[in-house]
Amino acid sequence: MSILKRDFLGIKDFTVEEIYRIFNLAKQYKSDRKKGKFSSVLENKTVGLLFNKPSTRTRVSFEVAISELGGRPLYMSGATTQISRGETIRDTSDVLSRYLSGLVIRTYKQEDVEEFAKSFSHPVINALTDLLHPCQILSDYFTIYEKKGHVEGLNVTYIGDGNNVCNSLILGADILGVNIRVSSPSGYRPPEQILKLVKNKKLLEMDTRPGRFISDADVIYTDTWISMGEEKAMAAKKKIFRKYQINKELLAGAKKDFLFMHCLPAHRGWEVTDDVIDSKNSVVIDQAENRLHCQKALLHSLYSEL
Ligand code: CP
Ligand code: NVA
Repeated sequence: MSILKRDFLGIKDFTVEEIYRIFNLAKQYKSDRKKGKFSSVLENKTVGLLFNKPSTRTRVSFEVAISELGGRPLYMSGATTQISRGETIRDTSDVLSRYLSGLVIRTYKQEDVEEFAKSFSHPVINALTDLLHPCQILSDYFTIYEKKGHVEGLNVTYIGDGNNVCNSLILGADILGVNIRVSSPSGYRPPEQILKLVKNKKLLEMDTRPGRFISDADVIYTDTWISMGEEKAMAAKKKIFRKYQINKELLAGAKKDFLFMHCLPAHRGWEVTDDVIDSKNSVVIDQAENRLHCQKALLHSLYSEL
């Protein structure tokens, strides 16, 4: 591995051209898989997955992606490593650099992933922090691209908590030229730390009214009101967000062909009702499938261009 290793810590680590290259690669990987064709981009490489939070989609799609690229995934629950007993990120990272060829990290603080990336000698991938979820959003814009044929100029409405998924959706929209509209209760808007990174301010609109950006939305996206680590706030947030539930009434004036998206896992009956998440507009399972193809494309880009 060259010293010019590349990380993926946030969606802004890629240019618009690189994102479209990943989309094209993902499309290729998706069709190759149907034909039973696999690549050997990660041959003889072991990629670690260090997770401090639960996961179904991210863990499994990365493990399968790494295996199907000819590599070996090695899952580590943070709680079973010496980090849980206070070993520093620096020491852990220096040691793991000698064994592994890459690290996929899911944890709380974005700064921790950044600290790993500084000393780890190989690519580090952010598999979700409290601040960002870039792998999710890379794949979600691929899903939109696949379903709508393009992404630039589309209207994407996010209704709910200004959380990690919302933050990455905003930053991705800024790169891809998407009109991004966010409806969230006051006090739950995306943080200034994210808003100040938005270059094309005209593309971003925010409002507290849940129905404000429904009528011309090409995509309506929501996520849980209670992210991992926020369980104590559950009762209070459930009350505050009640009006932000995506249900048939809220969607009454929506376009016929809008896409309903959710990164999953969903709290059915909270942020979305069954009749919406199970409707013909919903693409949530395709979204989840595309995590696999996009992460293969991501790994391919990080490894083959070095
Ligand atoms: N969407 C997503 O990241 O799901 P998991 O928490 O199951 O990985
Ligand atoms: N916002 C959610 C996303 C889960 C994939 C969380 O952080 O728990």
